[in-house]
Amino acid sequence: MCGIVGYIGESQAAPILLDGLSKLEYRGYDSAGIAVFDGGQINMSKAKGRLKVLSELTHDGATLPGTLGIGHTRWATHGAPSDINSHPHFNESKSIAVVHNGIIENYIKIKKMLEAKGYKFVSDTDTEVVVHLLDYYYKGNALEAITKVMHRVEGSYALGILFAEEPDKLYAVRKDSPLIVGKSENGNVIASDVPAVLKYTRDVYFIDNEEIAIISKEDLKFYNVYEEEIQKESVKIEWDVEAAEKGGYEHFMLKEMHEQPKAVADTLNPRLKDGKIVIDELNMTEEEINAVKKIMIVACGSAYHTGVTAKYVLEGLARIPVEVDVASEFRYRNPILEEGTLVIIISQSGETADSLAALRMAKEMGSKVLAIVNVVGSSIAREADSVLYTWAGPEIAVATTKAYSAQLIAHYLLALKFAEVRGTVSEDELKDYIEDLKRIPEQIELLLGNREKIQKFANRYVAAKDVFFIGRGIDYAISLEGSLKLKEISYIHSEAYAAGELKHGTISLIEDGTLVVALVTQEELYKKTISNIVEVKTRGAFVLAVTNAGNTEIEKASDYSIYIPKTNKYFTNSLAVIPLQLFSYYISIGRGCDVDKPRNLAKSVTVE
Ligand code: M6R
Repeated sequence: MCGIVGYIGESQAAPILLDGLSKLEYRGYDSAGIAVFDGGQINMSKAKGRLKVLSELTHDGATLPGTLGIGHTRWATHGAPSDINSHPHFNESKSIAVVHNGIIENYIKIKKMLEAKGYKFVSDTDTEVVVHLLDYYYKGNALEAITKVMHRVEGSYALGILFAEEPDKLYAVRKDSPLIVGKSENGNVIASDVPAVLKYTRDVYFIDNEEIAIISKEDLKFYNVYEEEIQKESVKIEWDVEAAEKGGYEHFMLKEMHEQPKAVADTLNPRLKDGKIVIDELNMTEEEINAVKKIMIVACGSAYHTGVTAKYVLEGLARIPVEVDVASEFRYRNPILEEGTLVIIISQSGETADSLAALRMAKEMGSKVLAIVNVVGSSIAREADSVLYTWAGPEIAVATTKAYSAQLIAHYLLALKFAEVRGTVSEDELKDYIEDLKRIPEQIELLLGNREKIQKFANRYVAAKDVFFIGRGIDYAISLEGSLKLKEISYIHSEAYAAGELKHGTISLIEDGTLVVALVTQEELYKKTISNIVEVKTRGAFVLAVTNAGNTEIEKASDYSIYIPKTNKYFTNSLAVIPLQLFSYYISIGRGCDVDKPRNLAKSVTVE
């Protein structure tokens, strides 16, 4: 939520800031702004709307001279999207400018204190207290003022700060919101995420909680909240620059869907050695794996949906009881984590506020925490006891596709490793499962090649008002993802239901022509789900069935069918999700929605 950037160097800052923001727009896009020091004063330009409004306003940055600046793209929390609420924010004398990602939780109390001292607020944001508080504490020493502010404010923040009186320095501060510093020969940069700096450097420093970076043209220095200098190591980022660009595709989502075979193979192959599954990063001995009594999976959104799939897979293959919860519920429900519980946190960004809080809580309660994360060096990755990375590369579209697919693979690997150690699958069965795993990338490729059929079908349902996704077992898990994908990018109301549960209320919503997408990939449940299809068809529904190749029986019961290649019952989600993603994508296009940046959403949800 919200993206921040900063630059100090020899080049003009504004175009670099705008370029960096364009890579972070997925984090929020209701307004944007930049502030640049021109040698005498800080000048600011900000505007409600997409980044292109700001680019036009500043003639692609040309109107703001200077080689030191900060920028922001906003996802509004406090204060509606507007020019005035956009960042950066100034103190009254315009000598300090601040961009902020996060939430200052005690801002009302601080605002009252500052107002009593004569400070005037112009915006409705929580952020404005930071700039006035900096002004209040600044007596010629910026580091001192910053640490005083850090002791005073509660909540989460990544801050980029300019002081007109310190024109050769860019300040960056972090607590619970992501922030990196990139060092390059042509100047140094700060950003909320790696794609914004890739063009300039691959050497980045991950700022940790309650750390401050003081950045000049040639130098980087890091401090803790007690103003003590600390040493930090840089990390080399291996991502391709092209991976963070559209590369000829119309949308990032389309590109990322097509990157799924690679994301799956990259997540899988390094963990397959001599016909065995080797997950060194797990950091668990065979005794520890055998000692696991229960697995608690915690995540949000689509990551939670992969957790629901994982429950079926881990329970089925490794015979370990699994509980799955959404992080925002888990963290406030006083959960019971008995000895022997392994907690798994799943997150693409590794920065989701609720998932991070759940991780910290689980660690405090004494559980071992394994993270399944895509972004290397993210907060969740760094704080977990061990990390199983999904190697999907940068995912830019707000609607996740390739990270979801890579997460599924991580779970299959984990389930098979646990099953092998605990002796719940035989050697031959394991071999077969591994062969099935290896086939998934080419099977996904095959399904992607079939996109025109799905596009044609989607065109018929562009005006749909309600869509229901139904399935049993693992098919229920995929229904959840299909439904979320559709609603988030097309704004069509949609619900996912366990097929057997439909008749306990929701079936009353089915009327003539209602589209029901039935997932029917679990052979032992075919007949049961077909009965549910018949029930909705009797009430007038039009049924699209997604089923396994060869299950032609389905054609008698449904109106339209899509077949997925054969795999074993545990891995079907990896294939069934592809037509569902394509379906949502084409519906969204047909309705003229902004596929990559759907309304009200942000890619990385770093606030509660
Ligand atoms: O970065 P995370 O995986 O922790 O994000 C979790 C959810 O916010 C995310 O999956 C969200 O639901 C996506 N927009 C779904 O496409």
